[in-house]
Amino acid sequence: MHKPDIIPSQLEKDLSYSDPDRLPLLSNINPLLSKKLFDGGFTTIEAVASASIRELTSCGNFQENMALKLIEMAQKSLGIDFKSADKVLESRRSMMRLSTGVDALDDLLGGGIETGSVTEVYGEYGTGKTQIAHQLCVTSHLPCERGGITKDGKEAITCIYIDTEGSFRPERIVSMANQYSDDLNIKSILKHILHGRAYNSDHQMILTERIMREAPLRNVKLLIIDSLITHFRAEYVGRETLASRQQKLNQHLHSLLRLAEIYNLAIILTNQVQTAPDTFFGDPTTPVGGHILAHSTHTRIYLRKSKGERRIARIIDSPMLPENEVVFAITTNGLKDVF
Ligand SMILES: Nc1ncnc2c1ncn2[C@@H]1O[C@H](COP(=O)(O)OP(=O)(O)OP(=O)(O)O)[C@@H](O)[C@H]1O
Ligand SMILES: [Mg+2]
Repeated sequence: MHKPDIIPSQLEKDLSYSDPDRLPLLSNINPLLSKKLFDGGFTTIEAVASASIRELTSCGNFQENMALKLIEMAQKSLGIDFKSADKVLESRRSMMRLSTGVDALDDLLGGGIETGSVTEVYGEYGTGKTQIAHQLCVTSHLPCERGGITKDGKEAITCIYIDTEGSFRPERIVSMANQYSDDLNIKSILKHILHGRAYNSDHQMILTERIMREAPLRNVKLLIIDSLITHFRAEYVGRETLASRQQKLNQHLHSLLRLAEIYNLAIILTNQVQTAPDTFFGDPTTPVGGHILAHSTHTRIYLRKSKGERRIARIIDSPMLPENEVVFAITTNGLKDVF
């Protein structure tokens, strides 16, 4: 993957203060090895534990057996092994639920958007994908008991908004945050939302890798990519490029899944739809990205337009939620329930 020749965005500047000494890496390995891992983007024990042998060997002159040893050491120190279902249940309790600010939609999602997982929001233009993304940047800063993911309302979390279409609007964040002005300091939340404009698919992937490095330092708890496939679609045109596009997209999604799991992040991906011309019954629209995306997201929310400001949200293919839909409205102050 070549590094695109571009001006660093604000997000890159904000993330550029890396310091290997501040990172809790494997304590009993030699500092040279530790530095090599850091430079290759493996800045925490979790990142090493979830890496593949190939990723470690390609990050910096490690032999395969050394890579395997490092991965085993990291996994051992984190106690990664088979777990009984009751232990899995216990660890799922550390998962938090992020409110969308719409009670009906939260109920549909079983209490809100899960941390530690990847949620895809797809629909036609103007259905509210970007609006949901903005609103989550606001609600995530609320204390847990008010639907946010800021523990005890103390330690500030950071949201990262990777913007591939230039649709991020801080003014919209402000008007959405106004309704929570009793609980939120708007100036402070604007400081904790990092915006990164991704100019092409390589850049989008590089930004994701950097977040992998910096997530624990900045307490990143929400990552939004609006929208996931725009660049991939524009750069890979024609049937003959489909396989390489899907391979690259797969690699990107794999990094995102890992990021969500190891740092208990909520990841929201927005996605466009395409019309399947051979559909005779039912809704002919399907999300772009094919099976790879379907297998890589945990929850899929399909948005449709209804009358005026009203929109319909439907849960699709969830492993634990029934397929159902609700209506909500996009208002000047953000997304609202409809009564
Ligand atoms: N300030 C506002 N007040 C009320 N409604 C708004 C406001 N800003 C945007 N909207 C509504 O949100 C809709 C646009 O939603 P959004 O930008 O989220 O669409 P999208 O699904 O991201 O579309 P695209 O695929 O083009 O990116 C508009 O139709 C508009 O009705
Ligand atoms: Mg949009």
